[in-house]
This record gives sequence, structure tokens and C-alpha cells, in this order.
Amino acid sequence: MTTTVRWILNIHPDKCQGHNRCRAIVPELVEIDDYGNAKAKGDGLVPEALLEKARLAVKNCPEHAVRLTQQS
Ligand code: F3S
Repeated sequence: MTTTVRWILNIHPDKCQGHNRCRAIVPELVEIDDYGNAKAKGDGLVPEALLEKARLAVKNCPEHAVRLTQQS
């Protein structure tokens, strides 16, 4: 039996300071609210094709606000 791993993108609302690098890297998964802070679109589910870009967004947030978590 194979287990499908689902990756979820989370952006911590208190840590985000609106640098917007995450949005620039992976606009497919990130939206900006009225205050200029980022949040994950929808349920944050990361399609396989966007996983590398999502990882890049995690590495490039200077506030360490972007996280990828696994759900199985
Ligand atoms: Fe916020 Fe970091 Fe993105 S500070 S806008 S989560 S790059």
C-alpha cells in the first residue's frame, strides 16, 4: 500500500512582517491581506509541481514565518 504525503503551506500571522518574498516566489500559493501580510491560499495544500518553489519560499522568509508541514 502506498501512502500519499500531502504538503501544507502555513504562514504564521504573528511572525509575518510583509516582506512579500514568499508571494514573489510562489504566487500560486500565497495571497496578501489588506495589511500587506501573507497567508496561504485556500487550505494551503501544495501540489507536487509547486513543492520546490514552496521550499524556496520557506528558505527566503527573513522572519521564518513560512512553514511546510506534512500530512499523511
Ligand atoms: Fe511575510 Fe515572510 Fe512572506 S515576512 S510576506 S511570510 S516572506
